[in-house]
Amino acid sequence: MMSNMHDYYAMTMPGLETVAFSEMQAKLPGCTLVKFARGIVLFQTTAAPGELLALRTTEDVFVALVHLTGLGRGPDALRVLHSATLQSDLAGALAAFRRAHAGAQPRTWRVVSQKEGAHAFRRMDAGQAVTDALKRALPRGMRQVQDDADVEFWLWLHGSEALIGLRLSDATMRHRAYKREHLPASLRPTVAAAMAWLAQPQADDVVLDPMCGAGTLVIERALMKPYALALGGDIRPEAVEMARRNAGAAGVKASWQVWDARKLPLDDARATTLLTNLPFGKQIGNLATNVELYTVLAREFQRVVTPQGHLVALTSDDRLWDAILREQGWQIAKKIVVVVLGQPATIFVATR
Ligand SMILES: C[S@@+](CC[C@H](N)C(=O)[O-])C[C@H]1O[C@@H](n2cnc3c(N)ncnc32)[C@H](O)[C@@H]1O
Repeated sequence: MMSNMHDYYAMTMPGLETVAFSEMQAKLPGCTLVKFARGIVLFQTTAAPGELLALRTTEDVFVALVHLTGLGRGPDALRVLHSATLQSDLAGALAAFRRAHAGAQPRTWRVVSQKEGAHAFRRMDAGQAVTDALKRALPRGMRQVQDDADVEFWLWLHGSEALIGLRLSDATMRHRAYKREHLPASLRPTVAAAMAWLAQPQADDVVLDPMCGAGTLVIERALMKPYALALGGDIRPEAVEMARRNAGAAGVKASWQVWDARKLPLDDARATTLLTNLPFGKQIGNLATNVELYTVLAREFQRVVTPQGHLVALTSDDRLWDAILREQGWQIAKKIVVVVLGQPATIFVATR
């Protein structure tokens, strides 16, 4: 089956597809889901293309040129990719790109291809089929280059499904300009944004990250929606300094302190929203000390979070955190597995 359309697709960290779509539904007018695939949300919206670049839980956004399902695994598939690209609405996609980028006219282009699954051809061959079609179909005056192209066409081929899209975003969408300084265990901004979104942000939130590292969670929450107050702290003064500088660069107002998260200098029920990336016991801490640490932390978090508040925490020690939360009477509303620093980790959304 083949359909060409003016749809869009977003790439997300695998696991965060539904969270990303929920942000789209809230922020983009007339947003409807076409389908999910791993790390992909295919959707329609009447939003102006530039509005898509403001999504925070998404890594990249594309105008969908081609969506194919039921693609064969043999060399015939290359012909199908080629002709689908030729027939696609390139003029419409280029117009969307210009609208998203203040009228900028792209002069150079390149193709980026990803392939998963067994096929009787190589990734390069699939990319070449798309490239050959684009050479014929793109306006004269647009030149193919190897790097630093004004516009990129991405081919995503997974088994019998293919998407070809014109990339609207660039690397700043996922990397964020404010993140000048990193810590080794620093969180990917789109994952931090997804955690903030999962806490159902409200304008009167008092947001707290008791183990803030470089400050990513507090900053992403603050950039996501209005809030009443944001508090971050860490046991290491250099982390607190870094968080303060990153927040300054992001234009985020928050208060930062050196503290021990096991014994926070905060009143009971001070925070409506506690967002945190727990020490995994790999880079920081170790698995044996995690039992004691997590037990103390879960109790302290219960003290400082309001009865209606949300706790959203990320850890790779998910069985331990799950058991401790339950033991202490937390209700686990959701668990989402994501890959962080190359290992699986779980986002826990809990209420008291
Ligand atoms: C996984 S990192 C958090 C990374 C952070 N979310 C970011 O994006 O940079 C865990 C942080 O917990 C801090 N930490 C460990 N034990 C702590 C404690 N008892 N009190 C406060 N912070 C602590 C570490 O210094 C480290 O910065």
